[in-house]
Amino acid sequence: ARSALPPPAHPYLCRPSHKARFFSPHLIPQKRELLYLSWLLRRMPTYTYEVPHRMRESARAPCTAQTSASAARFMATLSHSPSYRLERRRAIDEGLVRREELWVTSKLWNTYHSAEHVEMACRKSLSDLQLDYVDLYLVHFPFATRYVPFEARYPPEWIYDPDAPVPQLELVPVPLHETWRAMEALVGKGLARNIGMCNVGCQTLRDMMTYAAIPPAVLQVELHVYNQQPNLLRFCRENGIVVTGFSPLGAPSYFELGMATQSESALDNAVIQRIADKHGKTPAQVLLAWGVQRGCAVIPKSTVEARIRENLNVCSFTLDEADLKDIADLDQGRRFNDPAEFAQGMGPLGTFLPIYD
Ligand code: A2P
Repeated sequence: ARSALPPPAHPYLCRPSHKARFFSPHLIPQKRELLYLSWLLRRMPTYTYEVPHRMRESARAPCTAQTSASAARFMATLSHSPSYRLERRRAIDEGLVRREELWVTSKLWNTYHSAEHVEMACRKSLSDLQLDYVDLYLVHFPFATRYVPFEARYPPEWIYDPDAPVPQLELVPVPLHETWRAMEALVGKGLARNIGMCNVGCQTLRDMMTYAAIPPAVLQVELHVYNQQPNLLRFCRENGIVVTGFSPLGAPSYFELGMATQSESALDNAVIQRIADKHGKTPAQVLLAWGVQRGCAVIPKSTVEARIRENLNVCSFTLDEADLKDIADLDQGRRFNDPAEFAQGMGPLGTFLPIYD
């Protein structure tokens, strides 16, 4: 029951940043998009990514400097554009880039988990993006919150009714299998070429695979040297699920949100800096190369063209055994993005919303 459409290449995704507020994970193109628009990865280098067979073939062609350069330029254009959606559409219409060269990932927000809301939410994102399909549609979180119609508020964010006397996040009992069935229907209709999950662990995936007609193609989780999750990676590898790591640079995205301090930045870690010096690379390149060498897709955000170029150029060196050992020792199981923490600050009463044990 897989999609009849051939999937694009491996998603070594780069995520344009809008300095979006973290709690606006909606796919609103102009201000708050956490859409993971990535280039292309059909031309990324030849080393082996651990990807499902259906994605594997096209991931092996060699990367050209020109591809990286134009990718960087295009990404930067989109990142800086006040009219992100139009830029993307225009880029496609004017032939700067072909749709099939882009990997566009969008996500289903928590308010749309019910069977009757999934397709409508996907279509809304497609209409905002002016696209006919997304390459990957992900369930953003494994829990459902109360439905908010588009006319009432879009994006609905976390709190059900911000004008209520006691505004609150309201969970609703929608089982994940119901949502997943509706996600599978999107593939059947050609609205999403691949579907996946975010922010879950092995047991949720294992359970999903007992009923899924289309198993999750991708799992997106917070993944960096301070939160390495080796068991989860192994489980996904053994089950043909591509792992995408968000926040691969460690803490920087969370500084302005007050969810991390500068001292927690993996970019400033002495071990990472030493390894970077050894290879003549930047700390960011070491962190990203480490992710890619583990067989993951990494999605660093940046609004700075030079950094986007830097972040794309992580395939020209290899971390050796000693480097990998030193980096393995940095693991602390530290999550910067944890609803158990941040949902407690939502509404006057807060909500305790643990999803990782
Ligand atoms: P900026 O947009 O100014 O480049 P992550 O994706 O891991 O959450 O990290 C995103 C943050 O890291 C953003 O604040 C971004 O800032 C910064 N960043 C992205 N690439 C680099 C880089 N190569 N060197 C330093 N900081 C970077």
